[in-house]
Amino acid sequence: MRLQGKRALITGAARGIGLAFAEGFAREGAQVAIADININRAREAAAGIEGAIAVQMDVTRQDSIDAAVAEVEGALGGIDILVNNAALFEAAPIVEITRASYDKLFAVNVAGVFFTTQAVARGMIARGQGGKIINMASQAGRRGEAVVGVYCATKAAIISFTQSAGLDLIKHRINVNAIAPGVVDNEHWDDVDARFAKYENLPPGEKKRRVGEAVPFGRMARPGEIGGLATFLASADADYIVAQTYNIDGGNWMS
Ligand SMILES: NC(=O)c1ccc[n+]([C@@H]2O[C@H](COP(=O)([O-])OP(=O)(O)OC[C@H]3O[C@@H](n4cnc5c(N)ncnc54)[C@H](O)[C@@H]3O)[C@@H](O)[C@H]2O)c1
Repeated sequence: MRLQGKRALITGAARGIGLAFAEGFAREGAQVAIADININRAREAAAGIEGAIAVQMDVTRQDSIDAAVAEVEGALGGIDILVNNAALFEAAPIVEITRASYDKLFAVNVAGVFFTTQAVARGMIARGQGGKIINMASQAGRRGEAVVGVYCATKAAIISFTQSAGLDLIKHRINVNAIAPGVVDNEHWDDVDARFAKYENLPPGEKKRRVGEAVPFGRMARPGEIGGLATFLASADADYIVAQTYNIDGGNWMS
């Protein structure tokens, strides 16, 4: 029960890795707010987790961020743990990337993380009990990829932001760190597979098979396998860890 009495807000937690985090945090005693743009799926997810609440939140809109943070602070009495997990993925060769795609990915993956962090950190500072903020980066933020230019840039921005926010907020005993997963098998990757099928002329499922085979561990991760690191970073065991990004990718990347 490493998170007993803690209150966590997880963005984009209606499915995938965020949902696995919510389940893991709840098992360790936390009360969890599942915030997502898809409120119906967030409600379904919350119904399966003891003590969880579902919150409508679009991280691209300041009014939605402010309303969601206020709702969670009101319902749970405060926020001790924030996981900035919501993100979008798109792929296209550099010469085909549209400004609309660029703007959309940066709005969710970068501005969403900046301004959700800001809103939650203000409450943490006011309550004076510190906190834990965990940002979702990616191996895509460690190295560019030919048809993933925008997504990779957004995740590199998250590694940088984690360093700046980590350095700025630790004086308030708020630890900001990030997780960089490799390839995680879930609905998101079914979509990624379909996009690569188009650009690399592959049959459906082939990209997933290849990336799984290429992982030194021998396969893609399952969402639950990322959760242990998130629980650790959210716990008091991580009090002295500041501004770091941890790879959890079966051996894909070393840094
Ligand atoms: N799956 C992977 O292989 C992988 C690898 C590295 C990093 N990541 C990162 O891990 C995190 C979770 O990935 P996932 O695979 O579970 O993704 P996912 O696509 O399965 O889930 C993302 C969730 O975010 C929500 N969302 C989208 N836009 C939103 C918005 N504007 N406001 C609020 N919620 C919004 C979606 O409704 C969805 O529930 C992301 O940050 C992703 O970039 C994933």
